[in-house]
Amino acid sequence: VRAVPVIAIDGPSASGKGSVAERVAAQLGWEVLDSGALYRIVALAAVRAGVALDDEAGVAAIAARLPARFDAGRVWLGGDEVSTEIRSEACSSGASQVAALPAVREALLARQRDYRTRPGLVADGRDMGSVVFPDAGLKIFLTASAEARAERRYKQLMAKGLPANMHDLLSDLQERDARDAMRAVAPLQKLPDAVLLDTTDLDIDGAVAFIVDLVRDRGLAAG
Ligand code: CDP
Ligand code: CDP
Repeated sequence: VRAVPVIAIDGPSASGKGSVAERVAAQLGWEVLDSGALYRIVALAAVRAGVALDDEAGVAAIAARLPARFDAGRVWLGGDEVSTEIRSEACSSGASQVAALPAVREALLARQRDYRTRPGLVADGRDMGSVVFPDAGLKIFLTASAEARAERRYKQLMAKGLPANMHDLLSDLQERDARDAMRAVAPLQKLPDAVLLDTTDLDIDGAVAFIVDLVRDRGLAAG
């Protein structure tokens, strides 16, 4: 039997992974996994439960029985809708802290792999191609200059009515990128078998078209 195809999109913060993954999945009629949202929800749930973000066993216990739900672009933690809250800078930073804990990553592994269902999956994060779906049929390393990414994040936060300061955003983003790339477990990296896609001067539609072309070239999607 042929394995369910996966497109793994990894890259630094605000490189466009979420937007691009969503549109590629819509074009192909595939499922989508926003793995970063899981780490964000874990951080939020830990804060709400009064568990310190460096308490590895405590945070892993939360990750193992996380009452999170995704529905039509909205995110729920138990009975609370947390779609906007998990995009705050506090949750971004918290996510990156809990993501450095091996037991937390382990606790989320099976849950992420459960998203792999027919006809296919587009998954975005930091370790989709390296750890979660190493056999993905297409691996993309999506990136853009730090300045372009900070500006995108700034516009995105403003549009959501969340507080944003360009100077703080750029330094937070660089700090988080460094932590994600330097950590011992599942660091962000450009894999040898990943295709590099720099979107500093490329819009979302351009990135989506590039990826969908590769999917067709590789015969990953039917039709
Ligand atoms: O998921 P990730 O943090 O990598 O990025 P995103 O949330 O998909 O994108 C961050 C922001 O950049 C969104 O508002 C996108 O619309 C925007 N973006 C863009 O303007 N041009 C691109 N090529 C990619 C994303
Ligand atoms: O949207 P943005 O790229 O800023 O972040 P995200 O994809 O929502 O991920 C938030 C944080 O979770 C990242 O800074 C990583 O530390 C962590 N993460 C991870 O370690 N592994 C993943 N597969 C996805 C996210």
